[in-house]
Amino acid sequence: MAKKYYITTPIYYPSGNWHIGHCYTTVICDALARFHKMKGEEVFFLTGTDEHGQKVEKEAKARGVSPMEFVDPLVAQLKDMWRLLDISYDRFIRTTDADHVACVQKIYQKLYESGDIYKSEYTGRYCTPCEAFWTETQLKNGRCPDCGREVTLQKEESYFFRLSKYAPRILKLYEDNPEFLQPGSRINEMVNNFLKAGLQDLCVSRTTVKWGVPLPFDPKHCAYVWIDALSNYISALGYATQHDELYRKFWPADLHMVGKEIVRFHAIIWPAILMALGEPVPKQIYGHGWLLIDGEKLSKSKQEEARRQLTDPYQLVKRYGSDAVRYYLLREIPFGSDGEYTTERFLGRVNADLANDLGNLVSRTQAMIAQNFGGKLPARGPAEGPDAELIAMCEALFGKVDADMAALNAPEALSDIFAVVDRANKYIDETTPWLLAKDPAKKARLGAVLYNLAETVRICAILLKPFLTKAAAAVLKSFSFDENAGFDTLAFGKLKEGAAVEKLPPVFPRIDIKKQLEEVEKLVAEQQNAARSSAHPAAASGKAPVSIDDFSAIELKVGEVIACEKVAKSEKLLHETVKIGTEVRSVVSGIAKFYTPEEMVGKKVVVVTNLKPVKLCGVLSEGMILCAEDASGNLALVSPERDVASGGTVR
Ligand code: MSP
Repeated sequence: MAKKYYITTPIYYPSGNWHIGHCYTTVICDALARFHKMKGEEVFFLTGTDEHGQKVEKEAKARGVSPMEFVDPLVAQLKDMWRLLDISYDRFIRTTDADHVACVQKIYQKLYESGDIYKSEYTGRYCTPCEAFWTETQLKNGRCPDCGREVTLQKEESYFFRLSKYAPRILKLYEDNPEFLQPGSRINEMVNNFLKAGLQDLCVSRTTVKWGVPLPFDPKHCAYVWIDALSNYISALGYATQHDELYRKFWPADLHMVGKEIVRFHAIIWPAILMALGEPVPKQIYGHGWLLIDGEKLSKSKQEEARRQLTDPYQLVKRYGSDAVRYYLLREIPFGSDGEYTTERFLGRVNADLANDLGNLVSRTQAMIAQNFGGKLPARGPAEGPDAELIAMCEALFGKVDADMAALNAPEALSDIFAVVDRANKYIDETTPWLLAKDPAKKARLGAVLYNLAETVRICAILLKPFLTKAAAAVLKSFSFDENAGFDTLAFGKLKEGAAVEKLPPVFPRIDIKKQLEEVEKLVAEQQNAARSSAHPAAASGKAPVSIDDFSAIELKVGEVIACEKVAKSEKLLHETVKIGTEVRSVVSGIAKFYTPEEMVGKKVVVVTNLKPVKLCGVLSEGMILCAEDASGNLALVSPERDVASGGTVR
């Protein structure tokens, strides 16, 4: 029976701001899936979208649409991106798919009945962008330890999963199977940062979030998005249904490939859930590094729009082709570590390896066959001089690449393939076919040299197919070789004498990097200008449009701060006394980190005067002072540009 291989990517949040970092996990998984398929294994490759939760609920509300209306076009975009990048998934699962929802409910029901899920009350900190709960001790400076953003205090009736009970079994799992979590350093991270201190039970339901899977035993609760999301790995295979053939065939997964920031969910929570269900755990979780830009993880929240556009996979694929993007991701980033992305480095890599080394080898070989043999493959001759070394390298190549891919090391696999490409280029210099061509007595030797080159190109092209999906197939076709051939055709000497050899236009034309960089910068600037001038305000801000009547319902006035003090027990709040015309109001603002009370006195500010009064830390606030906020969360007061008497309206 054929070997089986089940590989998954994390399912993606439908954020819409796709950057090249998002493609990293999926491109690696695709290369692995293609590689195993070409080995003749039965592969199931899963990817999809993680659509429930507070984040989506909030974004949809801000745009005045339903959560489904919000996610549908984003899911279509993501699928389109995977199509452009030739991602060969076997299923694209959405957590809104009916079979997934039903499976999540079955999982909760089973855990509830076995006593692993119980009801209690949750009080703690929640990071909405990461959809993650944190204990006080896990916070960094009071903020989310993963993304550094603010967390909110949440208190609600909740169901809990007995995660604490599984800590010893998870530790034992790591001890008995060091392969379970890779690279090895991630095991230390999990043990030192989480498991050593013991695990706390995990809150796995929410009543305040409506966009999620309702719990079958208490439908006013929705499933915690991470349990919902992780379950996709088995719901996609029909777990707990009558049609669970795929589950029986492919589970446990061979590999969950994930980014390092979500290893905790995969290497602690997920195995614990599976243990509680009495199901086997996946064979391996690999936590890869990040693609960095100026040392930061590329992400929607941290990077400016211009940078994002420079790393926009659509733009990159459109300009340089999917193979270039795939190659860069697979070759350049040392596996398991972070890798710095720059457009120069990307283009440099494509030029050096693809246009120069591979492109030249293919075009020189084909040109010489066209010139000297009328485009028909000459006969293989007896091995002479450097032939034996080249042929031996070709014959040893599959073994090396296979070992590299077993170690999930795509950069090394490509480096091994390109070592043969380099050797073949050197072989041309050594055998000097252009000199052989001048001497009719050496025609047979010239033919043998070109045959060896063509065969080397073919073998490299077959091994490159999982990585460079388009170019490799085009090269094989140009040598009249089956573009769908698998690894069983790797023996040296498969090309037939007399086969038609087409002269391809350059597979990877050389890129003028300087010109490209200028063009890309120009394009980004144009796009930004276009976005600024033509975008509907709703599109620019992400909020639903309001009418002028809605806007005039808000009363804004100029006020003068006549007294100011810190609010006791708060690090963030200042209490201002603001004179607005003849009226004096008490206002509380969260600006203590940016202004001292002394600085505030005498300032002319803009106040929202018809907000309902509230008490903040016990102090009455009868309005709100407007501030501008930059991307890092720094605040600056908004003031009239010329002096305006207090009480003046702002409109
Ligand atoms: N929805 C969760 C995963 C749930 S899995 C049950 C999620 N989604 S994500 O859209 O934020 O990330 C999807 C994948 O992209 C993750 O593996 C993440 O690590 C990866 N990347 C996102 N930005 C990245 C880089 N800059 N570099 C490399 N990969 C990173 O997490």
